[in-house]
Amino acid sequence: MIIAVTNQKGGVGKSTTSINLAAGLALKGYKTLLVDLDPQGNTTRVFIPESDEVPIEETLYNVLLNFYPLSNIIKETNTDNLFLAPSHIRLSGFDLELSQAFDNRSDRLKGALSPFDDQYDYIIIDTPPSLGLLTINALTASEKLVIPVSTGFFALTGLVQLQEAFQMVKQTKLNERLDILGVLCTFTERTNVSRDVEGQLREYFGELIFQTTIPKNISLEEAHSNHTHVFDYAPHSKGSQSYQALVKEVLKR
Ligand SMILES: Nc1ncnc2c1ncn2[C@@H]1O[C@H](COP(=O)(O)OP(=O)(O)OP(=O)(O)O)[C@@H](O)[C@H]1O
Ligand SMILES: [Mg+2]
Repeated sequence: MIIAVTNQKGGVGKSTTSINLAAGLALKGYKTLLVDLDPQGNTTRVFIPESDEVPIEETLYNVLLNFYPLSNIIKETNTDNLFLAPSHIRLSGFDLELSQAFDNRSDRLKGALSPFDDQYDYIIIDTPPSLGLLTINALTASEKLVIPVSTGFFALTGLVQLQEAFQMVKQTKLNERLDILGVLCTFTERTNVSRDVEGQLREYFGELIFQTTIPKNISLEEAHSNHTHVFDYAPHSKGSQSYQALVKEVLKR
């Protein structure tokens, strides 16, 4: 099962959700590959502190631009069953570098992942905060989308464009099987704004909203700076409990 965690809006918890969903699945015994498709490399940096030094040949750059086999870049992590396909800053030029390519621009990631689909129980793709070609590649390669939405005042702006991209990928037949697995409310707080936005999201998306919500919780951020996921860093924290609940809900859906 290939799941992309996506929202073109920045800082809504895509990377945090990718990391902890992938780690949670791995801890349950599912062999999981975490694919960092964001040139910022935040997810890569959590697992490979010295990731600035990962040679470009050992990153997704080489896989997507030069059709290098994915198996050559996959790194083990400290967590059993959890593997990482690292990103590279040069991927920020992906759209430009491929602007001259005539075909096969949207399905390069799909082509790279498909030989590995049955070697992993789950492949989780972290995406950049844009609707560029990298995100289109993620939508094309995936079966399901998890859409984190931060419950701040501007939560709802941008969701229409994301839905349009989703429809575009389906209608252009890039990926007809794509479905939304769920919309995840993140950064929830006991404030009126947060409650209002969550309410509006539930009204708008109905059943698609996960029952689980992810509260603002410092342990989630601290786990990253300690180069690990929250189950390892603070297993009893609110952040850990909420991502644990999300993992259960994803498995049920
Ligand atoms: N529930 C949370 N509570 C507190 N801090 C959080 C939470 N979720 C994420 N963070 C922190 O907020 C910041 C943004 O989160 P994250 O990097 O996951 O978002 P993103 O959507 O991947 O951002 P980008 O669009 O830049 O890739 C990070 O520093 C992260 O550690
Ligand atoms: Mg991110």
